[in-house]
Amino acid sequence: MASLGVNIDHIANVRQARRTVEPDPVTYALLAELGGADGITVHLREDRRHIQDRDVELLRATVRSRLNLEMAATPEMAAIARRLRPDMVTLVPERREEVTTEGGLDVAGQLDTLRSLVGRLQDDGIGVSLFVDADTPQLEASAATGASWVELHTGSYAEAAWSAQPDELARLSEGSFIARSLGLRVNAGHGLTYQNVEPVAAIEGMEELNIGHTIVARALAVGLEQAVREMKALVQNPRRDPLFGSTRP
Ligand code: PXP
Repeated sequence: MASLGVNIDHIANVRQARRTVEPDPVTYALLAELGGADGITVHLREDRRHIQDRDVELLRATVRSRLNLEMAATPEMAAIARRLRPDMVTLVPERREEVTTEGGLDVAGQLDTLRSLVGRLQDDGIGVSLFVDADTPQLEASAATGASWVELHTGSYAEAAWSAQPDELARLSEGSFIARSLGLRVNAGHGLTYQNVEPVAAIEGMEELNIGHTIVARALAVGLEQAVREMKALVQNPRRDPLFGSTRP
């Protein structure tokens, strides 16, 4: 059964729209945990467009589930992670002009740098995950860094036309199989919604899904605690084959 990591970057997006103190992501992390979040994820971006350093520091002290820090593989972020010691670091590619993380990390193209960073983080007791596309060369390179986890990028699946979704799902499923045969543990995320999450949650070996946008959007209607509860129910009890029209028992 997969667990649910809740990404609360959008709470900080609302706060930063006014550069004020509310809503505070630290408060909302607690509400997400009350709704059943198995982990809290935040992305500290180089440009600090949403999550701020102060948020990560306070979350480190208050999160009772698991804190997953998404970050670019830069010396600045490495120093922050090594000081604050989140439970997990997920290394992601970052471009200043992008609206959200686009594409997976090119692990194969920066293997030596990543191997050394992964080693330093793991020596500090931090779990490390690499956000990658479900491509064999990237998965092989991920295993070669010594990281324990990969997070499979589900963006192509999420954005695919309905008729192309089964192929994208098969790619993720195969990616999970290959990753596990390389000794990696498997998470996934990006673009998952209440409508498309179940087939991904049902992939064999899937340990955790990281989900943000759709949960915060739903929270506007029902509150964050309830929005998390609803998503957790889908993640924990996915219909095996919802793409092909089966119904929930
Ligand atoms: N996983 C990673 C690595 C991400 O960068 C993001 C977006 O910040 C997510 C998961 C969550 O994506 P979404 O907000 O589309 O659910």
